[in-house]
Amino acid sequence: MERSATVVSLGKQARWRASAVAAAALLALPPAWAADAQAGQRKSQACAVCHGQMGMGAVPDAPHLAGQPQTYLVAQLKAFRSGARQHEVMSVIAKPLSDVDIADLAAWYASLEIEVKPR
Ligand code: HEC
Repeated sequence: MERSATVVSLGKQARWRASAVAAAALLALPPAWAADAQAGQRKSQACAVCHGQMGMGAVPDAPHLAGQPQTYLVAQLKAFRSGARQHEVMSVIAKPLSDVDIADLAAWYASLEIEVKPR
């Protein structure tokens, strides 16, 4: 029990470190590589069947992507692509994405503003 708790917290730490590295990499990008939210919107047509046209999950197991932090979205898509995060659908979808695709898609979803209110 104690041992598995240690493994879980190490996993979390590793994920944190991975996103910190991704965030640092993103900040270091030269302007010519700046993510293009409009291109991301076009590319997101392939995602809309599950994540919705405006990034609100359209099927029960697909999370909302609208308004998520850009660095988080980049980190998750790269994790699916590398196999660090695994999911039967997303691992396949992320495989062919380039760094530019990922940056554009993340910029698009991060550019959407969401409003939260009690039901
Ligand atoms: C066939 C359905 C489907 C399609 C198409 C799809 N996704 Fe997903 N996506 C999912 C599901 C289901 C999950 C939840 C994965 C999990 O449980 O770990 C997910 C998770 C994600 C996550 C992680 C979100 C989080 O909160 O951690 C991102 C980012 C993502 N998808 C982006 C995309 C992008 C970008 C595309 C298009 C290129 C796409 N998805 C296409 C079903 C889909």
